Amino acid sequence: MTSPFFVGTTNEPRKTSLPESLDPEKMPEHIAIIMDGNGRWARLKKLPRAMGHRAGVDSLKKTLRFCSNWKIKVLTVYAFSTENWSRPKEEVNFLMKLFESVLKKEIEFLNVEGVCINFLGDLDQLPKRLQGLIKEAINLTKDNKGICFNVCTNYGGRRELVIAAQKLAKRAVKGELDPALIDENVFEKELLTSNFVDPDLLIRTSGEQRISNFLLWQLAYAEIHITDVLWPDFNENSLIKALIDYQSRTRRFGGVDQISSQQI
Ligand code: IPE
Ligand code: IPE
Ligand code: MG
Repeated sequence: MTSPFFVGTTNEPRKTSLPESLDPEKMPEHIAIIMDGNGRWARLKKLPRAMGHRAGVDSLKKTLRFCSNWKIKVLTVYAFSTENWSRPKEEVNFLMKLFESVLKKEIEFLNVEGVCINFLGDLDQLPKRLQGLIKEAINLTKDNKGICFNVCTNYGGRRELVIAAQKLAKRAVKGELDPALIDENVFEKELLTSNFVDPDLLIRTSGEQRISNFLLWQLAYAEIHITDVLWPDFNENSLIKALIDYQSRTRRFGGVDQISSQQI
């Protein structure tokens, strides 16, 4: 079966095996991506920004496919931030329409592929039609056992934290929760990502060295890979490079690695 999800690979056999350059023992469970650079990609090609966003959708579909093939458990992408409403109205409208049309077109195929899709963010502010499609998509794929695909839409890390604090405060006021018992575990349960392990690897494209209000809590110990590649140009090779970089890191989580601890 071929589908739009097989972008550019309609005549190629599906390659599910891990590239030889990657160590299967050191794969991240959760990858988060700040998909940036669509506008610059379009400008370089003398195209309207909208074309950059369209091209970005193709990169996303391919990236999801690779992550799914390589058995990454969770992929979380930043599609629209709480700050992106400040863009020109035409661009915001275009993006909302693009999310709608992509979701409509792809959801059946994602379902067939076993993808479990989720949308993280303040969804109530999105256009009603998009909200409806999101609900349908979540419902359709909720029991799927494949990759968890989180699309952060109208997402802001600060807003997520404030909403979590409000929920806890409400429970405390009602006498259901002792404030002294609020610790990291209790707090984490109120976050939109409570069902997932924290990202192991954060990739940001287009060279910007900031996190732009993305997953402020969850990225506490993520390894960060920044590439100059613009999101629409991000491909299999770019993802392999990010994973090789990740696999070269020593994660210490505030501790010391084994060699250093033997030197004390
Ligand atoms: C990322 O690309 C997509 C969204 C934020 C929706 P940009 O649109 O930010 O592209 P640049 O940063 O202007 O190149
Ligand atoms: C971050 O990119 C948001 C998304 C990718 C959706 P931006 O382009 O909005 O970030 P800044 O403005 O460069 O920090
Ligand atoms: Mg940008």
